[in-house]
Amino acid sequence: MRSVIRDLPGSKIREVANAGMGRDDVLAFWFGESDEPTPAFVRDAAIESLNRGETFYAHNLGLPELRVAIAKYTSALHPAVAADRIAVTSSGVSALMLAMQALAGAGDEVVAVVPVWPNLTAQPAILGANVKRISLRSPNRGRTSAPGQAEPGWHLDMDELLSTVTERTSVLLVNAPNNPTGWTLTRDEQQTMLDHCRKTGTWIVADEVYERLYFVEGAKTAPSFLDIATPDDRLVVVHSFSKSFLMTGWRLGWMVAPADFIADIGKLIEFNTSCAPVFVQKAGLAGLAHADEFVPGLVQRMKACRDTLVPQLAAVPGVHVANPLGGMYAFFRVDGQADSLAYAKHLVASVGLGIAPGAAFGDEAEGWLRWCFASKDPGRLTLGVERLRQAIRSHPL
Ligand SMILES: Cc1ncc(COP(=O)(O)O)c(C=O)c1O
Repeated sequence: MRSVIRDLPGSKIREVANAGMGRDDVLAFWFGESDEPTPAFVRDAAIESLNRGETFYAHNLGLPELRVAIAKYTSALHPAVAADRIAVTSSGVSALMLAMQALAGAGDEVVAVVPVWPNLTAQPAILGANVKRISLRSPNRGRTSAPGQAEPGWHLDMDELLSTVTERTSVLLVNAPNNPTGWTLTRDEQQTMLDHCRKTGTWIVADEVYERLYFVEGAKTAPSFLDIATPDDRLVVVHSFSKSFLMTGWRLGWMVAPADFIADIGKLIEFNTSCAPVFVQKAGLAGLAHADEFVPGLVQRMKACRDTLVPQLAAVPGVHVANPLGGMYAFFRVDGQADSLAYAKHLVASVGLGIAPGAAFGDEAEGWLRWCFASKDPGRLTLGVERLRQAIRSHPL
């Protein structure tokens, strides 16, 4: 066994979840998914496909009709993208791994903006690449805000990014809207990064799986690198059916990249998963066919969840939280609680509240906690905040 695999850290989110295993009184907000099941029109499409006996291997790059549908969906949100720039993958995380396998080998340098979902930084490490971390700046800890008022969010130090990404950097990894902080990129920041990476010859791998979960009035998506890049730029944009179509368990995603890069990715898919299952792809096709009716409603429900949770959290004495513009997470800290793993375990044990420890996303996020607010019942969020208050009351700061 290679030592890099043996030394992979176990998931700290799982560690907290395991502490609540077998208890049905726990309100769980630890994983990054809604408790709302996949819509019926998606499930029905998969059932119909299975009933037709569509159980065979398929194209490496995805069903041609799905690639066309993804290109059409993408082109409705961003400048036009052709189907030969799309690869269908067995999940977003698989698309990220494929991009990394294609771009970063042993000894190569990968720069990642963190804190971030740990898979993004583990993948290049598994491949033997050297990962340099650029930490987002956390909100000012000393700042006090009015009760019930969310604080300013995390932000990027662009000068640090520009001096860290050099000709030696193979890949710049950016996830925005960001899991866990809710940080989003501005168009100007994207342009600066793209201009810089064009000069250094660095590929940008942009994880935009939360692009539709963006709560700015009038915007259909968060700012995307696809809006400003040319078809030949060294850019891979990773997407997923998991978040916008409530399909976490199906394992279906895609990437958008230059056409010649996608042709090579087809070969790489052969050696990873060979193809995504046809009935899952048919389900994805049904999701895209109904995207215009379904996704805006989902975004409104998620926004209502955010607007339920964040002000209530901000009103708890000792709690500091920013209002996320995108994603499905409230990222917060509680005065006096510096060990996020210990505190998350304590919350499960003492009041049955299940949230993810910031430490799961890197040392930069130690002392923070991540609360996934995606729920079909915002009342659960209110109940959860009451449990947090109870925990803080019984252990005064
Ligand atoms: C930032 C980020 N990228 C990618 C993914 C991968 O999604 P999936 O593998 O379910 O498509 C997730 C899932 O939580 C995520 O948070």
